[in-house]
Amino acid sequence: MTPVVARTRQELAEARSRIEGTLAFVPTMGALHDGHLSLMRQARRSADAVAVSIFVNPLQFGPDEDFDRYPRTFDTDLEACAAEGVDLVFAPTRDVMYPSEPQVTVKSGPMGEIVEGAARPGHFDGMLTVVLKLLNLVRPDVAIFGEKDAQQLAMIRRMVFDLDLPVEVAGGPTVREPDGLALSSRNRYLSPDERRTAAALSRALHAGADAAADGPEAVLDAANTVLDKAATADPPLVLDYLVLVDPTTFTTISGPRTGPAVLAVAGRVGATHLIDNVSLQLGKEH
Ligand code: PAF
Repeated sequence: MTPVVARTRQELAEARSRIEGTLAFVPTMGALHDGHLSLMRQARRSADAVAVSIFVNPLQFGPDEDFDRYPRTFDTDLEACAAEGVDLVFAPTRDVMYPSEPQVTVKSGPMGEIVEGAARPGHFDGMLTVVLKLLNLVRPDVAIFGEKDAQQLAMIRRMVFDLDLPVEVAGGPTVREPDGLALSSRNRYLSPDERRTAAALSRALHAGADAAADGPEAVLDAANTVLDKAATADPPLVLDYLVLVDPTTFTTISGPRTGPAVLAVAGRVGATHLIDNVSLQLGKEH
């Protein structure tokens, strides 16, 4: 069944008022892949009805980033939503979402300025602003975000906590290609050679996770060994960061430590910015 497509606030409000029971919401920027489909299936298991938004949010792209060339594939996205039994697709234009230049926006705070936020200044402010607007417009019971964007998910959880938003936030596991590359709408930018180099990101995370029992230094050393090799590949991987961070605050873990951590990596292959992460347990298992 084709989902109801709402393009305006009024169409959304009407469609929303017809939904009975609980609603799970998957916000996206379109160019849907199997990772998104897995979030939609999770949404279907979590609530009576499922809504998906498709909106490439200009506020979260820096001036030199890929806003203009970001893939826009609405017709195939809609077919994918239909195949997954999505009830409602909200696909606003830029003018619907931002009828005038927003004056009041969300400030992501210190957590928005570290790791991915340091590499992409302003990104998390723009992302949180649109997510807050979408949550206010769609009014879901639960909102589901991919764990591939681990810092984004942590920041959304923090916004919901700090601003007392009446929504449950859930993460959905990263879906990977057979060689480990995390699915991303940006993967379609990669040439076959770049694609081969990009697989080093997940190999590095894997190597790091395998060393988790030996502590933070061993994790970073193991991952860096893989990344150093990828830096000399043709085409090379240009590393933006490799960090071991606290899963909730995203602050760097240094010195001996046990317990949960996230190993996060970002780099560029050609002109494409890619990120990935893995959750791990530091220290010996008892
Ligand atoms: O992860 C994304 O696709 C975007 O950052 C989101 C959450 C849809 C906000 O634009």
